[in-house]
Parts: sequence; structure tokens; C-alpha cells
Amino acid sequence: MDNDGRSLRINGVDGINLTPLSKADENYYRPTELKAFDDTKAGVKGLVDAGITEIPRIFYHPLEEDDSGETQIRIPVIDLEGVAKDSLKRKDIVEQIREASEELGFFQLINHGIPASVLEEMRESVRRFHEQDTEVKKQFYTRDLMKPFVYNSNFDLYSAATTNWRDTFSHASAPNPPNPQDLPEICRDILVDYSKRVMEIGKLLFELLSEALGLNPNYLNNIGCSDGLAFVYHYYPACPQPKSTIGISEHSDTDFITVLLQDHVGGLQIRHQNKWIDVCPVAGALVVNIGDLMQLITNDRFKSVNHRVVSKHEGPRISVAGIFSTLVLPSNKLYGPIKELLSEENPAIYRETTVRDFSIQFRSDGLGTSTLKHYKLNQAEV
Ligand code: OGA
Ligand code: NI
Repeated sequence: MDNDGRSLRINGVDGINLTPLSKADENYYRPTELKAFDDTKAGVKGLVDAGITEIPRIFYHPLEEDDSGETQIRIPVIDLEGVAKDSLKRKDIVEQIREASEELGFFQLINHGIPASVLEEMRESVRRFHEQDTEVKKQFYTRDLMKPFVYNSNFDLYSAATTNWRDTFSHASAPNPPNPQDLPEICRDILVDYSKRVMEIGKLLFELLSEALGLNPNYLNNIGCSDGLAFVYHYYPACPQPKSTIGISEHSDTDFITVLLQDHVGGLQIRHQNKWIDVCPVAGALVVNIGDLMQLITNDRFKSVNHRVVSKHEGPRISVAGIFSTLVLPSNKLYGPIKELLSEENPAIYRETTVRDFSIQFRSDGLGTSTLKHYKLNQAEV
């Protein structure tokens, strides 16, 4: 690599030009550098492998001074032990889930039934995929989100204002399970096994969330909240200048709920009353959060809360998000605020939408904009 950090050698290819952060250069033209980065097909990890000591300017996104407030608030850790057999325990669990979903929009689950060894193998497989030979990994690199298996860096690279310090692969898992042949052999078995287990947890969570809303336990599963499930597998490389960039920009999730597996590194934060709260890693736990579609159907009772991942010197950080949504699959089903939850004092504040329409809106907005606001009914008309 050239010592000015400019001309990088990536995957054996010389001469990839990315302006380093400290270089004031009037020739810097962001779109060209985004394309150069995309063309490497080696992601952020490729830059780190090339030995950069400064982040390229395309990744520049300083954290604001007042961004990290101190707070005593902790994300609740909810123990699912006994949820199926002990009705008193179940009542207590439902109450904890209700409170967390109404206030923070985030909680952690322990004793959820997935053994620690499976969680560990899941994280290790994500690492194996991202750390395999670049020439092999490159074959999966694509921006075509309709492909059964997608690996790239920054799905919104050309539309987002901020380029994130993160690489990702993804696939859908329900209602149409992937053909195993379409999944990379290096992690195929665990992807299939893990997705079945997350589906089971999702079905249970939708029961508990239904009960928390005072509805029949099958309500949310019956209206299709668990019909769709997709996975994104993130790899956040160690970052030489973590305060100058971000792992994942502030955003809310567009789905019904997200079930997230993280590792010990940390960095996930949620915005609460304009302070950032850490979602501290808890060994063996899964993080659950309410998405925009759940906020919409509960008429704002459950909150879809903004969150982000800060970069660190430490890394890589690995996470797996299970996204309960059919995303852009064709769908005619309309979702609006649940009638049973509405009253004269609590009229509908959103109009109905299909999951597909909602997801297309999100994809065109990119990470960091509120999809929900497009569906707010004009208060004056209510
Ligand atoms: C996401 C997300 C957080 C994480 O994929 O939507 O917020 O910890 N991920 O990777
Ligand atoms: Ni998210």
C-alpha cells in the first residue's frame, strides 16, 4: 500500500484510490469514491486488511458532542423460564414485556430456549463467512436485493448520506425458505437451524405481545405478524478512528419485531429522551425490539425506538438480526391500527398499508428516516 493511505491494494488489485480523512483535497468527489469502494467487493474488511490507519473520507460521520448522555436507565432483561407451563410466571413475563414495549421499545430475553452453543456457532459462522478468502466471498457480492443471498457493504451505499463502518450478508427465511444450495456452504447448516429457532421464539413473542395488548394470544400470529422472517448478518470491523464514523446510522426498524443476537463487544445504543442508552451485552441473551409496523398496528402503544451502533477500536463485532416482515414480497393484506385497541378517546392515527408498500417506502428513504410519518393520518381530518 502507498504510504499516503490513498492508493490501496485490495484483493491483489493495486491503485484503488480513496481519499483519507485528513487529506483536504479539492478533487475529492464522493460518488466516484463510493463506486471505487463498491468495486473492490471486499467491503470495509477489505480496507482494514489493506492496512489503512485512517478511515477514508467517505466514512466520515463525527458523533455529535452531546450525543452520549449518561443515564441510569437499563434495558430490562426478561427471563422466559416457565413461560409455557407456569401461568403465574407467564402473567409476570407478559407484564414485563408490556412495560418494556410501551416505554423503551427494547428488551433482552434469557432462557429463550436457544442453547449458548448454537448462539456461539451462529456468531462464529458469520465471522467465518466474512473472514474467508476474499476471492471466494466476492462471488456473493451483489446490490440486487432480489437475489436469494446478498453480501455487500452498505445496502444503501449510493443513497445514504452516511457510509457505515460495516459489512453485511442477508437472506429471507419465511414464508419462502431459501434453497440450501443458494446459501454459502461455509455457514449453510447453522443458518437453516438458527432461522427455525428464531421463528419459534418469534411465534412465542407474538403470543406474549398479543396478551400484553389484552388480545387473544393468537391474535398477532393470526393476522400474519410471523409470516415473514429475514436475516441480516453484520460484521463491524475494528475501526482506527471510531469517533469519526458510525457502525450503523441512527434508524428505527421497519418490521413488526426484530430478534437480535450480538456478541460481547457492545456499541448498540437506543435513543431515549434524547440520551443514548447502551444495550449492554448479556451472555446468552437475545435483544428484542419493536419495529415501525408494530407501532403502527398498536396505534403508538408499542414504541419503535431509534437505535444505532457506534464504532470501536475493538473488533470485529458480530450481530445477527432476525427481521419479522415479509418485506417487499407481494402482499394484499392491509395493516392499520388494530380495531380492538381503538376507541373514541384513542382514534386511529395511521392509515392502512401493505407490508410491501411500507417496505418500499423505507428502501427509497434509506436508513435514518422515519417511514411511519408517511402513514400518519392528518389530525385535522380525524
Ligand atoms: C439492524 C440493527 C443492530 C446491531 O440490523 O437493524 O439495528 O447490533 N442492528 O447490529
Ligand atoms: Ni435496527
